[in-house]
Amino acid sequence: MTSIANATAVVERRPRHLLTLSDLGDHGLQAMLDLTARLKREPEAFRGALAGGRVGMIFDKPSTRTRVSLESAAWMLGMLPIVLRPDELQLGRGETIHDTARALSLYLDALTVRTHDQADVEAIAAAASIPVINALTNEHHPCQALADVMTLEEEFGTLAGIQVAFIGDGDNVCHSLIQAAGLGGFELRVATPPGYEPDPAIVEEARARALQTGGVIILTHDPEEAAYGVEAVYADVWTSMGKEAEGDARRAAFAGFTVDPDLMSRASRSAIFLHCLPAHRGEEVTDTVIDGPASRVWKQAENRLHTETALLYAVLTGDPTGERLT
Ligand code: CP
Ligand code: NVA
Repeated sequence: MTSIANATAVVERRPRHLLTLSDLGDHGLQAMLDLTARLKREPEAFRGALAGGRVGMIFDKPSTRTRVSLESAAWMLGMLPIVLRPDELQLGRGETIHDTARALSLYLDALTVRTHDQADVEAIAAAASIPVINALTNEHHPCQALADVMTLEEEFGTLAGIQVAFIGDGDNVCHSLIQAAGLGGFELRVATPPGYEPDPAIVEEARARALQTGGVIILTHDPEEAAYGVEAVYADVWTSMGKEAEGDARRAAFAGFTVDPDLMSRASRSAIFLHCLPAHRGEEVTDTVIDGPASRVWKQAENRLHTETALLYAVLTGDPTGERLT
């Protein structure tokens, strides 16, 4: 059994933080997928592997899947999960991010953070002496992307060379998928309305990485062009958490970007449908698609639990291949 005390002996080998998916590095994504596949085959090898550990979980936005999957993952590994809401912390009364991160590092072995600005999770990571995992910011959602690529790999046997269309907002989920395409060597076509494109810096970074992996990132304003012949169509909400005031303007801007049976018919005949959830049914996706035979959203949601269990194990032990498990 791997203990937290043993894990610190190999601290230099672990990915220090996961603030964006790119932090996994060139071979890290495949290592995480392989480790997750092993976890799904042999869950008992992981049970209690981090007994005695403690992981804090700051949730500054609502969450169903991320909170419950992370808490369950920690429990399965034998760790104490401590969910922290900012209004219950001194952070909510003006204690600085820096002081909060330093104090929490004295008690915990890792910290997951769901908040608004990516800069805040980076500030926490800079001040913390423990690994920090981004559990969603306005700009990134790396934990989601891990489950997404796990689902793609399970469905198609490989990431290399498959074609995926993301239809909607160039948001946090889209950014992490773009990084996944760069790391994993698949083609991602992103269709957004004008003005809702992904961050050009994230696209450029992923394209540079894709030169080594064979990945391709294509941007368009035409959902049908993006969906044409792809193996998977992906949707996320048009109005992300914190942008509710823009809801009406977004519904108008995203008209024509609903993933419906007609748009799915442009994709490969065997194409699957993915969605990070929660879904706003009737906006970005119709009931007929999300509840239809192409939908893999529940498999994708289940994979959140497995990928996050593997991620916590890898981050805390510096054993990304699981070689130290018995
Ligand atoms: N996909 C996802 O992150 O869901 P929650 O917001 O419910 O955590
Ligand atoms: N883009 C969505 C993802 C929710 C998991 C949001 O940030 O609200």
